[in-house]
Amino acid sequence: MGTTEQNLAEIAVTVATEAGELARATRGNAIREITTKSTATDVVTAADTAAEALIRDRLRQLRPGDAVLGEEAGGRVGAGVTWVVDPIDGTVNYLYGYPWYAVSVAAQVDGVSIAGAVVEPASGRVWSAAAGHGAWLGGERLRVSAPASLELTLLATGFGYAVERRRHQAAVVAALLGRVRDIRRNGSAALDLCAVAAGWVDAYCERGLSRWDWAAGALIAAEAGADVRLPGEAPELGADAVFASAPSVAEPLRAALVESGMGAFDS
Ligand code: IPD
Repeated sequence: MGTTEQNLAEIAVTVATEAGELARATRGNAIREITTKSTATDVVTAADTAAEALIRDRLRQLRPGDAVLGEEAGGRVGAGVTWVVDPIDGTVNYLYGYPWYAVSVAAQVDGVSIAGAVVEPASGRVWSAAAGHGAWLGGERLRVSAPASLELTLLATGFGYAVERRRHQAAVVAALLGRVRDIRRNGSAALDLCAVAAGWVDAYCERGLSRWDWAAGALIAAEAGADVRLPGEAPELGADAVFASAPSVAEPLRAALVESGMGAFDS
């Protein structure tokens, strides 16, 4: 019998795994049924919708009193536990068969993540965390990296869909690229945060994410020891910035991001 947080993490793993299996198994048909959202590049496949519906059904059975907030069907924040769901994070990767996509499910109370899972259907990797109980990749406990300097820092980032935002993000990348080891844009914010937790990258920063993009991954990064700043917590990077870094380089990296104009865009 685990703690409440651990029980919620197990539920997150269960429902995310089922939804991931659905997305993986139906990909061939799902990518033929596409609509778009904010821009022509912001796609929704039939699997995004179906995977979210499956998660909502399963949560209704397992946790009937809880609220659900999902990327595709919206929803509400409740007084108790709210499940924050991204049925496919990395939808463009999914569309192309690029395996870096994931189902992200987090349990939040008062806007704070207390349990979460990020499941990669293509590889079968299962990332999870329960507040106060560490971050895990399957049965392996995760710990962030400890780069010695900004110059040795591998940074991940992502780009939103709006053209003006992309221009700003490109300018920040151009200014920063000569100051860090390298920059990765892999296409799933949830998995980028898990990659920080595992030390596959040293840090991640992006502006303009939605709550479902970071709710599970940010907890996983924090439980692995990352210095994590959620929207509103690092105003110098922009009110909508999410930042997660190995503590050894968090200060110089934040300073370099500010100097590169990260916080300069009004969204
Ligand atoms: C997107 C991915 C991407 C990030 C975008 C997100 P979606 O989510 O997480 O890596 O750069 O900002 O919108 O659309 O694939 O669920």
